[in-house]
Amino acid sequence: MADSAGIQQGSPAIGAAGLVPAAPGAGGTEGSGAARGSARIAVKKAQLRSSPRPKKLEKLGVYSSCKAEGACKCNGWKSQNPPPTPPQTEQQSNAVNLQEPCRSCSHTLGDHVTHLENVSEEEMNRLLGIVLDVEYLYTCIHKEEDADTKQVYFSLFKLLRKSILQMGKPMLEAQESPPFEKPSIEQGVNNFVQYKFSHLPSKERQTIMELAKMFLNQINYWQLETPSQRRQRVPNDDAAGYKVNYTRWLCYCNVPQFCDSLPRYETTQIFGRTLLRSVFTVMRKQLLEQARQEKDKLPPEKRTLILTHFPKFLSMLEEEVYSHNSPIWSQDFLAGAAGGQIPIHTGDMPSHTPSHTPSHTPSHTLAETAFLCVHSPAGEKRKPSEPLSHEENKRPRVVGDIPMDLINEVMATIADPAAIPETSLLSAHSARDEAARLEERRGVIEFHVIGNSLNQKPNKRILMWLVGLQNVFSHQLPRMPKEYITRLVFDPKHKTLSLIKDGRVIGGICFRMFPSQGFTEIVFCAVTSNEQVKGYGTHLMNHLKEYHIKHEILNFLTYADEYAIGYFKKQGFSKDIKVPKSKYVGYIKDYEGATLMGCELNPSIPYTEFSVIIKKQKEIIKKLIERKQAQIRKVYPGLSCFKDGVRQIPIESIPGIRETGWKPVGKGKELKDPDQLYSTLKTILQHVKSHQNAWPFMEPVKKTEAPGYYQVIRFPMDLKTMSERLKSRYYTTRKLFMADMQRIFTNCREYNPPESEYYKCANLLEKFFYTKIKEAGLIEK
Ligand code: ACO
Repeated sequence: MADSAGIQQGSPAIGAAGLVPAAPGAGGTEGSGAARGSARIAVKKAQLRSSPRPKKLEKLGVYSSCKAEGACKCNGWKSQNPPPTPPQTEQQSNAVNLQEPCRSCSHTLGDHVTHLENVSEEEMNRLLGIVLDVEYLYTCIHKEEDADTKQVYFSLFKLLRKSILQMGKPMLEAQESPPFEKPSIEQGVNNFVQYKFSHLPSKERQTIMELAKMFLNQINYWQLETPSQRRQRVPNDDAAGYKVNYTRWLCYCNVPQFCDSLPRYETTQIFGRTLLRSVFTVMRKQLLEQARQEKDKLPPEKRTLILTHFPKFLSMLEEEVYSHNSPIWSQDFLAGAAGGQIPIHTGDMPSHTPSHTPSHTPSHTLAETAFLCVHSPAGEKRKPSEPLSHEENKRPRVVGDIPMDLINEVMATIADPAAIPETSLLSAHSARDEAARLEERRGVIEFHVIGNSLNQKPNKRILMWLVGLQNVFSHQLPRMPKEYITRLVFDPKHKTLSLIKDGRVIGGICFRMFPSQGFTEIVFCAVTSNEQVKGYGTHLMNHLKEYHIKHEILNFLTYADEYAIGYFKKQGFSKDIKVPKSKYVGYIKDYEGATLMGCELNPSIPYTEFSVIIKKQKEIIKKLIERKQAQIRKVYPGLSCFKDGVRQIPIESIPGIRETGWKPVGKGKELKDPDQLYSTLKTILQHVKSHQNAWPFMEPVKKTEAPGYYQVIRFPMDLKTMSERLKSRYYTTRKLFMADMQRIFTNCREYNPPESEYYKCANLLEKFFYTKIKEAGLIEK
């Protein structure tokens, strides 16, 4: 899902060549530059390395200072008959005369290469490699038109020359060394796969990993636009920041692809989200365009992967790349317990390790990359038997928890897709949103948050969708004036999550966010008639929930039409509003005859995947029960006591029930030490009294304020009375304490109507009380 309100409409400035690496100096015009450029240098290097030693000395003499006595200042021997510029190795005269004088200082060639007399063949070859890189860069400098790029080539040229003179290793002198941002792009994409797809069966996860790998490969061979091209395309961008990254990219990633004497790093391993953000929009557009153009060249088995899954993958990734608080960029991102870590690397290099391998990688068209992905193994899945990570070990263990080993073992059987019974989409057991989710994965439907903007140029596609939404809402909400719908849908303060099928809008939820008030108002929600009850409404709401979690708004409010109350209830809405009245009165629009409903979001739930996760958990429990059953061999005779007139027996007296793992519920630790009990109860009571919903229960109910209260409520109780009882050591058991507290809530619900503020306070405080009691270990969790 993409926030299309902010989609960049700028035309790509780097052309289709961006898909394939271009050699320095090629100006990003022809994609085959990389392969040809590096191959040409490699051939030249091989030729030179196999030439006789005098020939090598002649070549190196050109880049070596004169060692003749008298402190000659000449820094390179120049032949009397200079070869064309740049010098070419093919132009070889077989005879090398070490006595030939230098055109510049008149000292001999031999005077320039005395330092190489005892140098090994290997070192000579290394230096010759640098020489050829220098010559290649020389050509690049002259061909390059972009001033920033030219300047970097020149600096690298000087650096390489210096390292020949000093016989050293070319070391880039920079304030910062790679990696420049953490987590790296590779780690971020890896986290993204974990975050969004770890629940998938292994085969599908493998497909996602192929896509991730393909994407990372593309970035590693992506030709960045020059800073000036970028300034033209995105004038308001952080130009200085981009230039810094561009320079680093040229020095550490791009030029070393051709000049292998420079240490080479992968873009995805040394850059992070900042660089990805500056290339993603353009890159996504071009990759999709290329996929479309290449579709006939794609191997048949990769067609669905690239034409269907890849676009969807990129849309989902785009959201995480531009989101302000996506967890995938957090340094301490932890994979979900179910997924395990599946690192996806783009090459065989360990992260942040420079590679000195010459770049023989061919230009990667999507079709080729698809093949690369088939043949190169993706990351290995952690085997269930492997020890748990440190992080997993750190998770708090709950008494009675099922051992992790056992869960892993069961998970391994479930991860096999064949092990989960495929629910038919029409089956009563399939989740409400299952069909919609599958359609989204296949690319049949798409979700976009769109809106009208006063700052951006109108985008035709978005305007068409807004008109489509206005139509759907007008038809489905006939009691709403059409003009009113139009006004809100096109109001820049409102946004609409739209559901698109075959390029057409078939549903949506129009909403207005109130971040300062901590809630969002859902204004209209509808799905076109012939597409209703297919799960789209549920999937829309789930996407809306995830969108809001990302934007840190955790409450929805809506005035539900009387016919839509059922739908909203199924989406987790209730009439019990959690947002304090003071926060929304005056903000939310009032609708006559509609019911105010609210929904509190839980930020740790991945809503669009929730039903799949539940399904998987159900399978795990089922399997665990089956295992337990298989272990219990003993068959007890049936109970006969009922035939003898017994009407009721305690559950624990049923033979064999404890062996199944059953435990009496609600039993907790009774604290024997009276002082310990006192202090535990005192702490709990203090917590309850300081809760924001405790105010109605602080003191006994006054007769004047609640007429007839004491006729209705026979055993009143309040927190003040409880404090007094605690002080006087009345609570000798936890049960006495809990009974009094429970009475407060029951009395309140008996006397007050459900929609009253008091009733809601009782519910919320009761929930809080039980949490505290459980935390203290007074009842079982
Ligand atoms: N009343 C009761 N239950 C409903 C209703 C309804 N009006 N509509 C859907 N449901 C149920 C479905 O039966 C389904 O339950 P189930 O899985 O247990 O069978 C569940 O809600 C979700 O169904 P989906 O298929 O996910 O939802 P759908 O795609 O049909 O979209 C929606 C629901 C948006 C309410 C659609 O029916 C619609 O457009 N209705 C007309 C317009 C409308 O009433 N909009 C809400 C007005 S209020 C407001 O806009 C703030």
